Amino acid sequence: MNLLILGAPGAGKGTAATAICQQLGIPHISTGDILRSAIKNQTELGRQAKALIDDGNFVPDELIIGVVRARLKEPDAQHGFMLDGFPRTLFQAQQFTQDLKQEGTSIDHALMLEMTDAAIVERLAGRRVNATTGKVYHLQNNPPKVDGICDDDGSSLIQRSDDEPKTILHRLSVYHQETEPVVEFYEKLGLLARFDGSSKPEIVVTKILALIEASSRQSV
Ligand code: AP5
Repeated sequence: MNLLILGAPGAGKGTAATAICQQLGIPHISTGDILRSAIKNQTELGRQAKALIDDGNFVPDELIIGVVRARLKEPDAQHGFMLDGFPRTLFQAQQFTQDLKQEGTSIDHALMLEMTDAAIVERLAGRRVNATTGKVYHLQNNPPKVDGICDDDGSSLIQRSDDEPKTILHRLSVYHQETEPVVEFYEKLGLLARFDGSSKPEIVVTKILALIEASSRQSV
């Protein structure tokens, strides 16, 4: 299964992808997580990405395409993957489709989580993350057992630098301009499946898994 998960910032892509990948036994490849880890580890990639991410802008297409190409060559991605945060420009989508074609493969489903801008702004204000593991919480919807502390390893939870209200609005506007054409691209290919991102996380995951199961049965 080669899957993509699409949607505005904060639509719940990472949350749903984590649960779905655990069920399917495929790697969850989040370009945002890769870039944040590179920033934390002060690599050359992180140096190039930091200011762009902090301001809510995209990193250059060539840079992220190279990152994804390298990641998809790793052994765990040879029998399927879930890409989260890529492609997010039309150019990335076109290049990626070409890349997969050359490898004799393609995308099975592009899963789109739909949310209104107002709901996104409200939701992202409550997101807190473990900066080391990337585990995501929400102050109201998915709080940790102890306020401000990760349930798994006891680390302090932080607010992402790009979750400032002003930056959220900018990320939404970049999303509408740059990533909505990607949604249309997959719709025209007949690969897009839309889901209500404002449903409870377990409902989002159940519906996506049902679609995947139904399409797997059809292809047997
Ligand atoms: P990235 O990390 O991909 O950010 P994003 O797309 O803006 O998505 P988010 O991680 O903000 O949100 P999400 O949809 O995963 O929601 P989450 O599950 O956390 O990218 C960051 C940056 O990296 C970009 O801005 C760009 O600069 C750069 N970048 C990355 N990829 C790139 C590319 N391809 N090209 C160029 N640049 C790139 O959930 C949000 C909150 O809601 C959480 O608190 C969660 O607990 C809660 N929640 C989740 N689901 C639900 C639900 N169903 N109900 C209630 N609450 C929920």
